Amino acid sequence: MDTLHIDGQVVLVTGAGSGIGHAIARACVAEGATVHLADVSDTVHDAAGKLAEESTGAGTVASHVCDVRDKDAVRVLLDDVVAASGRLDISFLNAGINGVPSLLQPGGAIDELSFEAWRGVMDVNLDGLFHSLQHSARVMKKQRSGSIVVTASTAGLRAEPRVSYPYVASKSAVVGLVRQASLELARFNVRINALAPGPVVTNIGGTGPRPAAAVAAWEDSVPMRRWGRPDDVAGLALLLASGASSWMTGGIHVVDGGASALTQIPSDALPAPDTTAL
Ligand SMILES: NC(=O)c1ccc[n+]([C@@H]2O[C@H](COP(=O)([O-])OP(=O)(O)OC[C@H]3O[C@@H](n4cnc5c(N)ncnc54)[C@H](O)[C@@H]3O)[C@@H](O)[C@H]2O)c1
Repeated sequence: MDTLHIDGQVVLVTGAGSGIGHAIARACVAEGATVHLADVSDTVHDAAGKLAEESTGAGTVASHVCDVRDKDAVRVLLDDVVAASGRLDISFLNAGINGVPSLLQPGGAIDELSFEAWRGVMDVNLDGLFHSLQHSARVMKKQRSGSIVVTASTAGLRAEPRVSYPYVASKSAVVGLVRQASLELARFNVRINALAPGPVVTNIGGTGPRPAAAVAAWEDSVPMRRWGRPDDVAGLALLLASGASSWMTGGIHVVDGGASALTQIPSDALPAPDTTAL
């Protein structure tokens, strides 16, 4: 039986400079994989350097600056990975942003949101994924093997007032893209699955202090009564990447401390009724 081990395999992680992507990259290095970290920020070089220093096993690390919105840059990234390592076994397509007011915040209502704000999120979360998926699939179809793991979100599985319109819409589209691609890629022995994390402490909401009320409100909607940590997501990522999940494809796998076991989010997380007279 295949196991969780991925030692010796060639791995790409997009959005690997921080948060969930970085935790996934660290877990893969610890397992002895050859890991290529890619990120729009050049801090990815330092992040990769630290992983290499920490590494005690056979895992190796390389880093690339790449903006997933740029289709030519993504093509070059995939070509560089294959040129350096000979193949691509696992592709974690994880880069994503939010950065737009939620529908509970000023400017987040559907008739207030700018088209530029909408497009900004769609460009990274959906178009960026399209480019990264297209070029990962190009390599893996030719090899007749590979595993692609996409970071979706529980916000792609249901409405979520505490995040923005384009975030929910982009992650919902990501879910459809993963399912559709699984149909095509299966006959090439390439699997594709998605992770759907609940709230995880990362830099996606910025690096400053997080408002206590919002932190507590999210915590209250998680049966395990805490936010996730990036390492909480890395275990599922390894499972989906490795041979331990050899008959799994087209699946959307939730990792959220039990939050989606609730049928309803707490009513105090919904917008209050508008009682102003017309
Ligand atoms: N944190 C959460 O609560 C949560 C929940 C569900 C899903 N997610 C998803 O997890 C993924 C990782 O986010 P995170 O929470 O770790 O945030 P993060 O901000 O800590 O990390 C995201 C990384 O992606 C990089 N990135 C942003 N735009 C990019 C681009 N155009 N090209 C390449 N890299 C880019 C950033 O520089 C950053 O290093 C995202 O897809 C996000 O939507 C996060």
